[in-house]
Amino acid sequence: MKEFKKIGVLTSGGDAPGMNAAIRAVVRTAISNGVEVVGIYRGYSGLISGDIKPLGLRDVSNIINKGGTMLYSDRCPEFKTEKGMQKAVQTCREFGIDGIVAIGGDGTFRGATDLTAHGIPCVGIPGTIDNDISSTDSTIGYDTAMNTVIELVDKLRDTCESHARCNVVEVMGRGAGDIALSTGIASGATAVVIPEFEVDDQEICNKISTSRRCGKRNFIVLVSEGVGSEYAPALTEKIMRQTGVDTKFARLAHVVRGGNPNLRDRVMASEMGVFAVKELLEGNSNIVICIRNGDIVATDINYALNLDKLYKGKVTKEQLVGFDEVTVEKMCAEAAERRKRLERLYNAAKTISL
Ligand code: ADP
Ligand code: F6P
Repeated sequence: MKEFKKIGVLTSGGDAPGMNAAIRAVVRTAISNGVEVVGIYRGYSGLISGDIKPLGLRDVSNIINKGGTMLYSDRCPEFKTEKGMQKAVQTCREFGIDGIVAIGGDGTFRGATDLTAHGIPCVGIPGTIDNDISSTDSTIGYDTAMNTVIELVDKLRDTCESHARCNVVEVMGRGAGDIALSTGIASGATAVVIPEFEVDDQEICNKISTSRRCGKRNFIVLVSEGVGSEYAPALTEKIMRQTGVDTKFARLAHVVRGGNPNLRDRVMASEMGVFAVKELLEGNSNIVICIRNGDIVATDINYALNLDKLYKGKVTKEQLVGFDEVTVEKMCAEAAERRKRLERLYNAAKTISL
C-alpha cells in the first residue's frame, strides 16, 4: 500500500460556507495520523503555480465558524488541458504531495479524477451551495445558504406586506432548483419556479389575482437562476401588468454564498473531512465523500459524475459506458429516488402555496 507522508488540501469552484470546517478536519485528521499537510491556495490554479504552504494544527484554529475559504478558490481552465495537468503533477512531485483532498463541486471532481489518473490519488468532498451532486443527500454550504435565503426573504415579506406588493426573488443554484424549492416552501412563497418542472406564468398571475381579491397583501415568488437570467425580471413585469399588483425583483446572487456556516454544515463538513483523510490514507482514491440517509459513505467519482448526468437527463441509461448492468440499475434507482424526492417537495409547495 502507498505510504502517505504529505497530503494537500484545496478548495475549488464556487466557495461555500463550511469549506473551512472541512479544511480544518482534513488538516487535523492527517496530522493526528502522522501525515504532513499542505494548503494549496486558489484551487487548481495554486496547484499549477505552486501556491502552496504547510498547514499545522494551529493554522486552522478559529476557522470552523467562518464563511468563505481560507485557501481561497478559483476556476482554472488551464487545469483542463494536458499541459496544465502536467504542470500540476510536476508541482505535486516538487512539493512531495502524495495525495489530495479536493473540496468543491462536480467540476472539481472531474479535475480530481483526471489528477488521480495521472498518478496523484485524490478524494473529493462536495462543497457547493447548489446541492447538485446527486450521489449525496446534501452538499457543504447548501443548508447555510438556504437559511440565508429565508432570512432575506422574510425581510422582503415584511415590506411587501406593508406596501401590498409582490417580490420575485431569484436565487442561485446553477442548474439545480433545490435551493429555490426548499426556501420557497420555508418562506411561504406563492409560487416556485425551478428548471426541473414546467411552469405556467399565467397560472402564477391568476393565483396572485385571486388571492389579492381575497385580501392577501404580500406575495413572494421564488425563482431558481437555472431557468435563465431573463426569466425572473420578465416574470416581474408580467405579474405587474396582468395582476396590477406592484411587483419588485430581487436577485440575491452571491450574498447567499457568504456568511458563517450553520451547525449542520459545520458538523457535516467536519465528518466528511475526517472520513476523506481516512479513506485516502487507507489507499482509497477517486472517490467522493457523501452523506446518505445520515451515514457518511464513499462513492466512486466516476459513478457520482455519471449518476449526475443520468439524473440531469444528459445521458440515457443506454449511454452509460463502463458500468455493469447491476450498477446501471442501481444508478437508475438512485436517480429515480432523488427525482421522487424533488417531486414530493414540489407538489407540497404547490399544494400549500395559495
Ligand atoms: P465546481 O467544482 O463548483 O463545479 P467548476 O465547474 O468551475 O466548479 O470547476 C472547478 C474547477 O475544476 C475548474 O475551474 C477546473 O479547474 C476544474 N475542472 C472542471 N471541469 C474539469 C474537467 N472536465 N477536467 C479537469 N478539470 C476540470
Ligand atoms: O456553484 C455555485 C454557484 O454559486 C452557482 O450557484 C452559481 O451559478 C455560480 O456558482 C456563480 O459563479 P461565480 O461565482 O463565478 O459568479
